[in-house]
Amino acid sequence: MSKTKKQYVCNNCGSVSSKWSGQCFDCGAWSSLEEEMISAKPLTKNILMDNAVSGTSLELDSLDSEISESIRIQTPLSEFNRVLGGGFVPGSVTLIGGDPGVGKSTILLQLTTMLSKIGLNCLYVTGEESADQVKLRAKRLEANNTPAKVLAATNVNNILATIDKEQQFNLVVIDSIQTVYSSDFSSAPGTVTQIKACTQQLINYAKQNNIILVIVGHVTKEGELAGPKLLEHMVDTVLYFEGEQHNHYRILRAVKNRFGGVNEIGVFEMTSFGLKEIVNPSELFLLHRENNVSGTAVFAGIEGSRPLLVEIQALIAPSNMPTPRRSAVGWDQNRLSMILAVLAVRFGLNLSNKEVYLSVAGGLKITEPAVDLAVAAALISAAYDKPLPNHSVFFGEIGLSGEVRNVSQSENRVKEALKQGYQQVYSANKLDNYQDSMKTILHVKQLKNF
Ligand code: TYD
Ligand code: MG
Repeated sequence: MSKTKKQYVCNNCGSVSSKWSGQCFDCGAWSSLEEEMISAKPLTKNILMDNAVSGTSLELDSLDSEISESIRIQTPLSEFNRVLGGGFVPGSVTLIGGDPGVGKSTILLQLTTMLSKIGLNCLYVTGEESADQVKLRAKRLEANNTPAKVLAATNVNNILATIDKEQQFNLVVIDSIQTVYSSDFSSAPGTVTQIKACTQQLINYAKQNNIILVIVGHVTKEGELAGPKLLEHMVDTVLYFEGEQHNHYRILRAVKNRFGGVNEIGVFEMTSFGLKEIVNPSELFLLHRENNVSGTAVFAGIEGSRPLLVEIQALIAPSNMPTPRRSAVGWDQNRLSMILAVLAVRFGLNLSNKEVYLSVAGGLKITEPAVDLAVAAALISAAYDKPLPNHSVFFGEIGLSGEVRNVSQSENRVKEALKQGYQQVYSANKLDNYQDSMKTILHVKQLKNF
């Protein structure tokens, strides 16, 4: 009879320890250790014997031999294809994370039904809702009239046996990995051991049978995918679905992609008929923009391979607090502090006794340093209560000595600005090719010349 023993696994990094502690010794995460019961198997003879080799020898392959070029499967959602790097690769595994209610189940159900309409055999496995609930949702999305199949199950062995019996699926969605369990392990669904084991079984099956596997993963309070980071290493593509409950816009972002670029985004709108893609996001992010308002600047940004115009808004208010508030929505707060320090020292604009609020309109999160110049422009405009010239865009990275630096893909940024009717550009990049098409090109090398 095999003995069982207790161990503690960190749900953040997956490290195992024999004793519980409040903090993981490996990754430093707090309250992340989960108790698990494992059956202790005696070590096999081969492991104990030094030179023993077990297993069967396998066939080697040469790196320059023929490859079977995998054909990408385009979904009818072009925004989804963009994020995937041009569609699904058969046999690939994609993990989608996002806050509860952001629309993961909705978009995957839409994809399942859309792909089944164009001839793919699709299966939607749900562990969170009943089959009837999924059917009801499909009906509401007017997507029920399709050959796609639904399966309400949580036992991974049964799920794989069902898929294997049908022998025909091209796409399988698992919603969600936290609800799936394997009867080979005694720990509860959602624990690290279960998540790792079930994911591995599903991945192996999908790779062997060339099935497109899409797995939904829950996120933790901090917004990371729950379960060990290992989960992200195991899959080919990791997508995050971002958006706020009160905002209708949703952004699908690739954070890891073995078959395409990362940080590529797709923009969607949640409507009463599910998610609709937005093909011209610049238009959306500038939708409520009013001219002649102080404290706003338009940033010509790049997300993945796509140029995008976004409005940056700043508000400066008097403060009685010893440490006035600084808040940044959609941008890094530390970077805001740095720009404020540079403005104080290099530009002579001291806002240390003022509250400063910065927001990226439309719920987008910007990580590019190229936004610095647009942020500085919005702050200067807010501080002096003077609107910036209408129809102008800004891009450039700001250094600590107040210098504005060149940024990449300036031509794409300018082209997008022109497309949206913006004819003035402020940047450090030389844009000689656009002297004729742009009304004004302002070359900003130092904040003080601004
Ligand atoms: P859901 O896909 O269940 O989110 P997740 O799987 O990420 O938890 O989305 C649920 C939300 O979407 C819910 O708040 C209702 C809203 N919704 C719509 O606005 N329109 C729709 O057509 C659907 C199906 C859902
Ligand atoms: Mg869901």
